[in-house]
Amino acid sequence: MALKETIQSLLDQVDKMSASNMEELEALRIKYLSKKGEITSLFNEFRTVPSDQKRELGQMLNQLRQETENRINSMREKINDQMVNDQMVNDLTRTPDPIALGTRHPLSLVREEIVDIFSRIGFTVAEGPEVEDDRHVYGMLNFPPEHPARDMQDTFFVEKEIGVQKPTDVLLRSHTSSVQTRVMTTQKPPIRVLCPGRVYRNEAVSARAHCFFHQVEGLYIDKNVSYADLREALLYFSKEMFGADTKIRLRPSYFPFTEPSAEMDISCNICGGKGCSFCKGTGWVEILGCGMVDPNVLEACGIDSKVYSGYAFGMGVERITNLKYRVKDLRLFSENDVRFLRQFVSC
Ligand code: PHE
Repeated sequence: MALKETIQSLLDQVDKMSASNMEELEALRIKYLSKKGEITSLFNEFRTVPSDQKRELGQMLNQLRQETENRINSMREKINDQMVNDQMVNDLTRTPDPIALGTRHPLSLVREEIVDIFSRIGFTVAEGPEVEDDRHVYGMLNFPPEHPARDMQDTFFVEKEIGVQKPTDVLLRSHTSSVQTRVMTTQKPPIRVLCPGRVYRNEAVSARAHCFFHQVEGLYIDKNVSYADLREALLYFSKEMFGADTKIRLRPSYFPFTEPSAEMDISCNICGGKGCSFCKGTGWVEILGCGMVDPNVLEACGIDSKVYSGYAFGMGVERITNLKYRVKDLRLFSENDVRFLRQFVSC
């Protein structure tokens, strides 16, 4: 075959060559490019080519060698990559790719901070069911049967038969005081518990209200527990949570299960009590409800109200979180938008 045709057919061959491992690739390299390889020997033949054809054939030969080298090099890279990859997959001891860590939910961070502060003065955590019965949520807590909180407008009732709205005493708890009734009926004083958890109220969802939110309620029952003890515990909590300069004030209020009852404000942690748009110029913001456990509640739970007294308080975790982080829209807490959630770091 004339040199030109040989070069042409080798170009075709080189174009189609393939190798699945380094050994096959080396065999190809030897076949074409080694000292005795097919392409190398064409260079020997080239010496005998008449000088008028040297230019064209020389170019073709150089191109053939270049292309062969390029093909072999790129095949080597591919095989190498594949080998590294196989090794990585099969090597169980290799360092894993880092997994991006998420961040704690702001409500979890704040709930834990509340629990942590009260645990330092002896409170332990108690938990209870979210689907409750009327007795534990209202009955034992001194709510009269016609109390509006029981009303369909406030409480989510659970249908016993799907689609049949008969009067029912199964409901979604509207406060975690239900956990306190469960603790009081199963434990003997002294009792010092915190009840964190999710609660449900039938409210239209907006920036300021939601059909569910989170509470931490507290209960302390022992001999000689006084209103002064309640005040001290809450002052301690407020200073730990919002800073040592924080002041508190207790305003008379009403809850069926406490007597006397109060609402507690803290000095506005945004303006320091001077008055701003957040505290509506008053210098105070409300953060929780509290009071001395009504003797009727103690008796309903089997605790002798002549021997024991106690205090209780309850706060919304969302409210505390808003004060700490200035979150303006409650809905953000349950929308699971990572751009919002990523902004919170452990406090
Ligand atoms: N249970 C009340 C509520 O959900 C809060 C509270 C708890 C008030 C304990 C007083 C004492 O609004």
